[in-house]
Amino acid sequence: MPLVSMTVNGVRREVEVEARTLLVQFLRDHLRLTGTHVGCDTSQCGACTVHVDGVAIKSCTALAVACDGATVTTIEGLQNGDELHPMQRAFHEEHGLQCGFCTPGMIMSAIDIVRRNGHDLDEYTVRKQLDGNICRCTGYHNIVRAIRAGASAMRSGQADA
Ligand code: FES
Ligand code: FES
Repeated sequence: MPLVSMTVNGVRREVEVEARTLLVQFLRDHLRLTGTHVGCDTSQCGACTVHVDGVAIKSCTALAVACDGATVTTIEGLQNGDELHPMQRAFHEEHGLQCGFCTPGMIMSAIDIVRRNGHDLDEYTVRKQLDGNICRCTGYHNIVRAIRAGASAMRSGQADA
């Protein structure tokens, strides 16, 4: 079986996996990083979103072997010690979740939206950019508020992993 090596949340990991192993399976089943969720089998929901070399991808769409040598950040890697990432804090403060199943993917996508669109996000931009992430509970209103607030808070200098 191929040996795959990645830096995940700042830690170098090397695991032998079957060649068909998806990145999401590598993270959840081999590294036990279960904050990355699987919400569909059609690449539509975005619950599996992580950052690979700083860019958000749906980890159900990539083979682990294709990410050999990459730097990966999952929801577990955003926090700085006891301090939540500003986007995590914004979801908490703006009540941007109900059941929470979609939330890790939403937050990882949200940070990438800020990377691509800057810190001053209008509602239209956030809604348009979120079209790859599905929430079955909230109606999106507070998620949009949270992302706009989190984008603004990220300007104040905390790491935007
Ligand atoms: Fe990857 Fe749904 S589990 S998009
Ligand atoms: Fe339940 Fe989004 S909070 S799916």
